[in-house]
Order: sequence, then structure tokens, then C-alpha cells
Amino acid sequence: MNPCKSPLSSMRRWLLLLGSATALVAPSIASAQGELTVYCTVQEEWCRPMVAAFEKTTGIKVSMTRKSSGEFYAQIKAEAANPRGDIWWGGTGDPHMQAAEEGLTEAYKSPRLAELQDWAVRQAEQAKFRTVGIYAGALGYSYNADELKKRKLPEPKCWSDLTLPAFKDEIQVANPNSSGTSYTMLATLVQIMGEDKAFAFMKAMHRNVNQYTKSGAAPARAAATGESLVGITFQHDAVVQALGGAPVKIVSPCEGTGYEIGSMSIIKGAKNLENAKKWYDWALTPEAQAIGANAKVAYQVPSNKSAAVPAAAPKLNEIKLIPYDFAKYGSSAERKRLLAKWDAEVGNQPK
Ligand code: F6P
Repeated sequence: MNPCKSPLSSMRRWLLLLGSATALVAPSIASAQGELTVYCTVQEEWCRPMVAAFEKTTGIKVSMTRKSSGEFYAQIKAEAANPRGDIWWGGTGDPHMQAAEEGLTEAYKSPRLAELQDWAVRQAEQAKFRTVGIYAGALGYSYNADELKKRKLPEPKCWSDLTLPAFKDEIQVANPNSSGTSYTMLATLVQIMGEDKAFAFMKAMHRNVNQYTKSGAAPARAAATGESLVGITFQHDAVVQALGGAPVKIVSPCEGTGYEIGSMSIIKGAKNLENAKKWYDWALTPEAQAIGANAKVAYQVPSNKSAAVPAAAPKLNEIKLIPYDFAKYGSSAERKRLLAKWDAEVGNQPK
């Protein structure tokens, strides 16, 4: 009798096979229960301590990537049939609102909603709870005061100063397609000046722009090092540079300025939905919202009413803020239309 054919040995072989198959599958089931993929749209220096603190608090293993607001919006849309991310944390509210309208994100009412500032709750309500506000910050620009003095240039104070011939090739700002910061600027100018004048202004400023960056905060670094004289960003991003010792001056434009409600959304079809909700609830706590300022990397105004506002955060009540229309400028049709118009009339134009 061939021993290989005995019923006992074939059963043993089956058991062995089953054992090794279980050994292959078991760890991935175990880790799938403890994983989370975070799409992070604040500065990488802030994403990292957030991830480390969440992993420490929950034992959940996080895989994180950082991209700009418009880039993640496009990625989440492209991945909609097979979502790879679980939660999109940070970034300007408009693309989060657009994702909500297009059904790319999941409705969720955190038990922490009641702890949030009105502006953060309003953002959630307008998006039928498919997003929520996590921080706020005003738009503006910064300039390198040493360079300005050296070149004997006038001190800019308004949006309108940015089209002066004296600032030829001296201004850096991001591309509004990739960057939520720059889209906030586009929508802000439209709200302040009216659409025709805003586009005429951006066309005129185009001559002075030395580079349209991918990320919104990059121009603040360029102004800090003197690579660019002026950088248009959220004011809190320029604060990071000023506190780091750079000779930058921060400007709240005289005509008034817009602001962002930095947002967070759970991605529709998230493979780790329960862990995404854990991150969501945790990220709304005062403790989690203090991480950026404690690490000296972020100076936005947090959305939890009990979270301390960093002493260095630009004082929103002292800035001439416009009543930015998040529902309109975060709507899918309006954001698409304005970006296409910017490409055609500004970005793709020769200088
Ligand atoms: O983290 C800095 C920050 O300015 C946030 O306040 C903002 O939501 C985000 O970056 C926007 O980044 P981007 O313009 O690259 O989309």
C-alpha cells in the first residue's frame, strides 16, 4: 500500500495545508482590525505627531500620506469604486464640501459635535454631516521685510498692491487646482471684487507671480527664505515661519480677506470604517486639537470650544473677514467652473 495514498496521511496533508493557509491569512485579518489609512492635508510636520498620538492612544496602526486639498479630492474621486483611504483629515473646507455633495464621503454624527464652535457645526450641517470643521484660519500674505528694505520697495498692505509693477516676479502662490489655500484666494477675490474684476486682478497679478506651487503653504517658506519676496498663504502658515525666526511680516489685506474652515471627512466605502470613526471622534477632542500648537507646527483656531487657541494664532476677530460663502464656493458646479476659468484665463496665459 502506498503510504501517500493512505486516508490518514491525506488527512494529515489537508490539515497541514489548512494550517499554513490559516497562518497566511490570520495576520492580515488581525491587522485589518487594527489599521487605518489617513489622507492628511495639513503640513507633514503636523500630520506626523497626530498619527503618533493616535497610534499610542488606540493601538491602531496608521498608514498616512500627505497631499494638498485639491489633490486628495481628485484622488478620492478617482478611487471611489475601490476606496483606498479611510479618513481625510485636514485641508480647506471647499473640496470636502464638493466631495460631500458628490457622495464621496460618509455621513457621520460624532458624539463630540455638541462640543464644537458654531462655524464647525454649520459646516457639518451644510454638508449633511459628510464633513465637519476641525480648525479655522484667515488668508493673507507675508513678505520678507529684510529683502523689501534692501530693494527699497513699498510696503504692501492690500490685495491691490500685489499687481504693482514693482513686484514683478516677486509673488508666489499655489495653483488653485491642487491647493485649497489658493482656491480660497480665488473665491475670496471673487467675493470681494465681483467675478470680472477678480479675474482681471488675477490676470494682472499673474505677471508678478514667479511660481504657482503645488502646496498652499510653500509660498510662506519661500518668503521666509527670501526666495520670493511675497508669499500668499493662510496667515497661520506665515506665523510658523515668523516664530522660526524668519524676517517676515504678515499682512491682512486692507480690502478684507477670506478664511478656511479646515475639515475632516470619512471616505465612502472606507475599509476600516470603525477605526475611521475612532479617529474622527478623537480628532475632535481638545487634547488632539492641541497637538499641532504643542509641537510648534500649527497655529490655526481649533474647532472644539474647550481647546486652547494657540497664543500665536492670528486673531480672527481682529481681521477684516468677509462672510465667505462655503455652500456656494464648495459646491461642485461652482468649484469646477471657477477652476476651469482660472486655467483658461490666468494659469495658462503667457506672462
Ligand atoms: O496646514 C496648513 C494649511 O494651510 C491648512 O490650514 C490648510 O487647510 C491646508 O494647509 C491647505 O493646504 P493646501 O493649500 O496645500 O491644499
